[in-house]
Amino acid sequence: MSQNIIQVRDLYKDYQTALGPFPVLKEVNLSVAFGDYVAIMGPSGSGKSTFMNILGCLDKPSSGEYMLDGYPVDKLDDATLAKLRNRTIGFVFQGFNLLSRSNLLDNVSLPLVYAGISKNERHARAKVVLEKVGLGNYLQSLPNQISGGQQQRVAIARALINQPRLILADEPTGNLDSKTSEDIMQFFKELNDDGITIVLVTHEPDIAEHAKRQVRFLDGRIVQDSLTTAKTPYLLTPAEAN
Ligand SMILES: Nc1ncnc2c1ncn2[C@@H]1O[C@H](COP(=O)(O)OP(=O)(O)OP(=O)(O)O)[C@@H](O)[C@H]1O
Ligand SMILES: [Mg+2]
Repeated sequence: MSQNIIQVRDLYKDYQTALGPFPVLKEVNLSVAFGDYVAIMGPSGSGKSTFMNILGCLDKPSSGEYMLDGYPVDKLDDATLAKLRNRTIGFVFQGFNLLSRSNLLDNVSLPLVYAGISKNERHARAKVVLEKVGLGNYLQSLPNQISGGQQQRVAIARALINQPRLILADEPTGNLDSKTSEDIMQFFKELNDDGITIVLVTHEPDIAEHAKRQVRFLDGRIVQDSLTTAKTPYLLTPAEAN
């Protein structure tokens, strides 16, 4: 078995435009080991979301190789790829993407509908993950009856329902205030401590600090890939302390 849950080699992505092919990702190489926690950074338009969509098998590269959990994604048929994706990956997006007329139990159990699991079983499993994210008292609530941070927790619960080994999160704290963002990051850390691999896009250096590793995109290329170094504690001089 591969020791990398993600292995990307020499990946390119062009979008077709009226002016011809427009290169968005160029010569991207990235390996992510099981249990790693990677923050992806870089300016707007540098290709982060395009790359995440490819990692999530929602989009295909123009060329290059992507191995997910040791499987060559471009060589799998659609049904096999869908199964691999559903059992391996949980997605969390910036906008939460919750169904406004469905209660939390129904929102979280949605991915199980496609797996043909009975409603009772779906709700039983949804209750377990909603309790895990601290929302056990809100099972019947609608998304607009809870706060933004709680809504993001619902989205995380939904991502966890298939017990994924990998969480892909594209700016999960982009719509949250800094206190709520810290709570969500604390929760991601717990998931990572439990062995779940996390790849998370963020614009905010404070958020990226929570990851073990930081990867920076610039103009479709990876220009930095480094471990997050522990912050040196800031020591007050006696004069400053007074
Ligand atoms: N479907 C598409 N068709 C054509 N071009 C696209 C498409 N999606 C994205 N692009 C272009 O690809 C480039 C990278 O977009 P992408 O969304 O990956 O950037 P990003 O790094 O996620 O930016 P942001 O930080 O603003 O979310 C941009 O120039 C964008 O305009
Ligand atoms: Mg983006």
